[in-house]
Amino acid sequence: MIYLKGYIENYKPFFMSLHTMSSTNRILYIGGGREIAETLKKAKPWGLEIIYIQHKERFREELLPYVDRVVLIDYEDIDVLIPICKTLQSLFPFASAISMNEDALIPTAYVCDALGLPGNSIETVKTLKDKSLMRQRLNQLGFSPVAAQVGYTLSDMLTFVQDNGLPIVIKPTDASGSLGVFRVDDTAQLEEIWQQVQALNLSSFLMEEYLDGPEISVESFTFHGRHVVLAATDKVTLSNHVEIGHSIPAQLNAETYEQVVLFVKTFLDAVKLEEGPAHTEIKLTKKGLRIIESHNRPGGDRINELVQVAYGIDMKAMTLGWFCGVVEPLETSPQLQAGAAIRFLAPPAGIVQEISGLEVAQQSTGLVEMYVWVEVGDRINVVNESYDRSGHIIATGVTVQEAIDRCEQISQQVQIITVER
Ligand SMILES: Nc1ncnc2c1ncn2[C@@H]1O[C@H](COP(=O)(O)OP(=O)(O)OP(=O)(O)O)[C@@H](O)[C@H]1O
Ligand SMILES: [Mg+2]
Repeated sequence: MIYLKGYIENYKPFFMSLHTMSSTNRILYIGGGREIAETLKKAKPWGLEIIYIQHKERFREELLPYVDRVVLIDYEDIDVLIPICKTLQSLFPFASAISMNEDALIPTAYVCDALGLPGNSIETVKTLKDKSLMRQRLNQLGFSPVAAQVGYTLSDMLTFVQDNGLPIVIKPTDASGSLGVFRVDDTAQLEEIWQQVQALNLSSFLMEEYLDGPEISVESFTFHGRHVVLAATDKVTLSNHVEIGHSIPAQLNAETYEQVVLFVKTFLDAVKLEEGPAHTEIKLTKKGLRIIESHNRPGGDRINELVQVAYGIDMKAMTLGWFCGVVEPLETSPQLQAGAAIRFLAPPAGIVQEISGLEVAQQSTGLVEMYVWVEVGDRINVVNESYDRSGHIIATGVTVQEAIDRCEQISQQVQIITVER
């Protein structure tokens, strides 16, 4: 991996004010992906001690400086996780159990429930994780109505089309990274999509009416049931729905922005979110705003870092601090400080022959962060999911348009030349 130093670390979480520490300054943190070292590091300035639970094969030595105790188990096995956490709690009392990683959100909710720790209910977290459960709940409430049904067979796909018309979307009920999201415009496509669904080993899938319109995501933080919207983000996707760029603030007029804020707060009330971060994806359709999905964690794709650049707020640091009682709640949405944008690098599929332009790109005005995570000799796949992307550029500007323009110019300077083999 080629990593060129970013400047994100210069953005201090200045909104934090330490007040009386809660009974303990220890956190139980569960899981974590590619950015986990960066996340855990954020606990150190407050002297928070971390007990870390991770799958054995995912633990990396580079995490050792940031964790105080480590337990390596399959944390998705709740029957093992709970007794271990109870024992840990009796030996090393901790104030909170936290995760910001998708596959650990439900296990963490079980731990909070079993140990009486602050957090969201198991029901809330499960509703957010399971897209079909979320649709059922919202449709029952008549909020953000979307025709949706779980299917198991090709014939279920045909029936859904007969009942709801075209276009529709077929996707996994609980995946991420836009893997296996298919848009269907013609019943003739169904046979091939059915083959692909089987190739992905999906025993069931979610069918939804196609929601047409621009897409945004919204970052929020909930303090004892009071939701504060932090940022709205414009999203650019490839035709297969894989995200290829984001920018903050979303370019919405004031009236639409107010509608979005109200819509997100109503949604978070509907799923009974009580505490912490949320990342909610929304389509602005002709029939009104519609939820795509939401999770009780900050957005991925470096959206947390874009929020930092735009608003000076680090949602991950805030999550660690809030659940330990070392962060004051925000009273209002933050003031915009700058525009921020990210563009992902997606060179043509093939073997990487040459990477150039990085030194020039690194001198660019407005560059905040640049990562290229492929090397000469690596195979680059056609971008079918987020993990197929090859790197990213984050840039800032006085306005969001300036940030986007700079980001796109810098992206063009980075040349990743591939050859078919
Ligand atoms: N019903 C729908 N109508 C229109 N577009 C949809 C619909 N469902 C999903 N999409 C598109 O597909 C994208 C990915 O869907 P979704 O967010 O449910 O999957 P995901 O795998 O969780 O994605 P990611 O992790 O990338 O956010 C959405 O951001 C949206 O662009
Ligand atoms: Mg999504």
